Amino acid sequence: MKKIVLIGYMASGKSAVGALLAKKSALKFIDLDSYIVSKIGLSIATVFKEKGEIFFRKIERKYLLEILDQQTSFILSVGGGTPCYGDNMEIINKFSLSVFLRTPVNTLTKRLQNEKQDRPLVASLNNEKLTEFVAKHLFERNPFYEKSKVIIETGEKDILEIVTEISKLSV
Ligand code: S3P
Repeated sequence: MKKIVLIGYMASGKSAVGALLAKKSALKFIDLDSYIVSKIGLSIATVFKEKGEIFFRKIERKYLLEILDQQTSFILSVGGGTPCYGDNMEIINKFSLSVFLRTPVNTLTKRLQNEKQDRPLVASLNNEKLTEFVAKHLFERNPFYEKSKVIIETGEKDILEIVTEISKLSV
């Protein structure tokens, strides 16, 4: 059984890389945020707004466990915060090959400027605040991400290059 979990900050390319990797390796692709949305019938933004972040973190963990427990092979992309709560990272490492997509802070900030509306943690920040927020947040989160078994520097690489690199890892 092959279980790969893609780890990384918001806008690091986890979903795009995961979808292409799954296609190329003929494996099922699961995006944790989309899985949650399909299970509870609310958007992530609505969950944050109406139920709060703590509730989100609880259901995020519940569905993470449900997916990791599946007796099939898959590629899973988790949310940027998933590895940073409870012992989620230990559980991910117990059941899968975790791959951290490390992306430079400037690239993340640039991408998030155009993609922040669906991401409640950054939606209300202006560009200047966003840069500061991402830099600080990464500093806090990197120790969790760095528990991944494999770290890929995404830098200037395109999605296909990253997928090829992951495909070469033996699981
Ligand atoms: C979050 C990242 C989001 C989503 C939620 C919280 C975070 O996922 O789970 O908005 O805490 O970084 P993506 O990393 O897929 O944007």
